[in-house]
Amino acid sequence: MTKPSEKPVDELVPIFFMGKRYDVPASLTIQKALEYAGYQHIRGCGCRGGVCGACGTVYRIPDSYKLQVGLACQTVVQPGMHLMILPYYPGNRSEFDIEELKGTGGEVAALYPEIFKCIGCNSCTQGCPMDIDVMHYMAQAIRGDIAGVAETSFDCIMCGLCASRCPAEEVQFNVAILARRLHARYGHPRAMHLKERVKEIENGKFEEPLRDLMSKSTEELKELYKSREGEPQFTEEDWTPQDARYV
Ligand code: SF4
Ligand code: SF4
Ligand code: FES
Repeated sequence: MTKPSEKPVDELVPIFFMGKRYDVPASLTIQKALEYAGYQHIRGCGCRGGVCGACGTVYRIPDSYKLQVGLACQTVVQPGMHLMILPYYPGNRSEFDIEELKGTGGEVAALYPEIFKCIGCNSCTQGCPMDIDVMHYMAQAIRGDIAGVAETSFDCIMCGLCASRCPAEEVQFNVAILARRLHARYGHPRAMHLKERVKEIENGKFEEPLRDLMSKSTEELKELYKSREGEPQFTEEDWTPQDARYV
């Protein structure tokens, strides 16, 4: 069977958006196909590159009972598909002030006690367009492993598709971003060189060089750019264990 992406650009295939039929070029993504059909994306579209999570889409192919999910900007149309874009998923989001927390695993459970209702069905992982092991990071959240959740969920784009399939009504993406914020604030090693650079900026170290740059012509700036030194590379050895601040 010919894959949609291998069909000629000018071949039109029918798709059904909000129940209405449109004939669109077979090679387009869902996002571009809808623009071809005359829709202007005001909601449900951001980066167009698979990283903002605004274009979560639920669809079904004819003769299949299965509901599938994907990103409209990354998923190529298929003949006869019925689809709906979910720009926003209205999951529960707990309020917190990061400065008042301490970065303990128990705080995640206190803010999202529903994590203990997870039944381990794996629907969230199967529905994630970023191929994140969502069920695993929910298990890490239950264990209070903030660093683990932060690591496992690192590629989460907050599309909400995992929550849309969850029988336990979890808000996996909000649990994950809480863990990443806690880890960044209390667990991740501090970038000491950044602290020193901020101090230098506050002390006016770069004011004179900046004035000098602003007085240069475009050509002078291009030459300067070409002859610049490379960025210093920081490695694990640049961090000290004392910088880790889990409480
Ligand atoms: S974890 Fe959930 S919200 Fe994050 S990218 Fe995957 S499906 Fe989307
Ligand atoms: S879909 Fe919900 S209940 Fe199922 S494994 Fe994921 S978080 Fe747990
Ligand atoms: S538009 Fe940003 S992920 Fe699709």
